[in-house]
Amino acid sequence: MIYELSSPLSKTLITHLRDEKSDAVRFRHLISELTKQLVYEASKGFPVVSKKIQTWKGENSFPAINEKSIVVATVLRAGMPMLESAVELLPGASAGFLAMKRDETTHKSVLYYDRLPDCKGKIVLLVDPMVATGGSMHDALELIKSREPFKIITLNIIGSPEGLDVVQSAYPDVDMYIAQIDEGLNEDKFIVPGLGDAGDRSYNTLK
Ligand code: PRP
Repeated sequence: MIYELSSPLSKTLITHLRDEKSDAVRFRHLISELTKQLVYEASKGFPVVSKKIQTWKGENSFPAINEKSIVVATVLRAGMPMLESAVELLPGASAGFLAMKRDETTHKSVLYYDRLPDCKGKIVLLVDPMVATGGSMHDALELIKSREPFKIITLNIIGSPEGLDVVQSAYPDVDMYIAQIDEGLNEDKFIVPGLGDAGDRSYNTLK
């Protein structure tokens, strides 16, 4: 399943992301706001428990997401603002980190850091702003699947139809929530029209 945000507000935030005038602070803020919109959509399928709390009229029970059943995982480094945003909404969720680097010659991703918490039986939200060739998502999903989660949901900001197809063909049971599906990839495997390299835009490392 692929769900794309469609509200005028989300499309406006994406236009600001594409705008070269958006500096690193603004860029990360926009990513963060869009991530919250994605979490709202994805949360419709989250398990809800009855939580006992102390109110102004004494003890009572109310519905709340079972945050302990959720892991938010990201692929460094462009995924960091998304992870921070998601765990602000879900402070009881645990966070996991993977690092993958896209080899600019072969266009293949290479895993070089793995600090995933226990994912067994959990809902894993895998967040990464970009799905270009889909290689990073594919490889991250392969790794997370091997940790036996109950369900995996991906949150992405922008993707190519080709990359999304690579991921969905390999993992049709993974639900993908994305803010914007763009036209496609250019010969350098960059998303067009896209927004450039999200990691570089977020952390001011544009060459
Ligand atoms: C970007 C992005 C994804 C990956 C997508 O990361 O954050 O992880 O590329 O490309 P793919 O779909 O073709 O695999 P990048 O490798 O640029 O690293 P960075 O986050 O450190 O900038």
